[in-house]
Amino acid sequence: MSDSDDDGVPTLSAHTLAALQEFYSETRTGLDRSVQPSDQFAVGAVEEDWRMSQFWYSDETAARLAEEVVREAGEGGRIACVSAPSVYQKLKQGVVGGSDRVSAVVLEYDRRFAAYGEDFVYYDYNQPLSLPAVVAPRSFDVVLADPPYLSEECLSKVAETIKYLSKGKVLLCTGAIMEKLAGELLGVTMCSFLPKHNRNLSNEFRCFVNYPSRLS
Ligand SMILES: C[S@@+](CC[C@H](N)C(=O)[O-])C[C@H]1O[C@@H](n2cnc3c(N)ncnc32)[C@H](O)[C@@H]1O
Repeated sequence: MSDSDDDGVPTLSAHTLAALQEFYSETRTGLDRSVQPSDQFAVGAVEEDWRMSQFWYSDETAARLAEEVVREAGEGGRIACVSAPSVYQKLKQGVVGGSDRVSAVVLEYDRRFAAYGEDFVYYDYNQPLSLPAVVAPRSFDVVLADPPYLSEECLSKVAETIKYLSKGKVLLCTGAIMEKLAGELLGVTMCSFLPKHNRNLSNEFRCFVNYPSRLS
């Protein structure tokens, strides 16, 4: 590499620069090289990172939740997937009936999901209302959320975001131990449906809704 120019500022050759850009681009998206383009929306296309409390749903659970939000959003409905990228991916995979007649965004802290372009909205629950204009107040027919932590602080802040975004229907996925607080904050009740993850979680995990649902 020709690593310095005349005024002493380090520079890189065009070849080295191209290689580095490719490397950083892959690191940013986190998309697995072995995944084919048609699989870019597969659950697991972005690897789980435990440092961000990432536990992906099983393919079946992601599909079941995607079917639920499509049905509840209705024709032309808008769906917000808050910290729940697998459901967004399943909606975009083209395998759920009616998913082509709704629109969806994914609100995520993990910037690897920026690979999904305009559908990606950067979101940190610590700033629950710090959101761009594209996610206007009360503009989503269904808000599905899976907060990263089982704490009162985290659920309370995510609930602020949910209430801000929601036109009414809320589907919350979290630990069973959050049942009482979830009911107080969002008026949701526990469903009988048992969501599954690709890895077994030590905590009992459930879905909660504030509308009559087929998951109940
Ligand atoms: C328990 S996982 C839920 C994922 C869901 N089970 C799925 O398969 O789509 C929690 C999610 O919260 C996201 N997350 C981590 N830190 C966050 C933060 N500070 N603000 C918002 N979301 C965060 C993670 O990237 C992860 O997608």
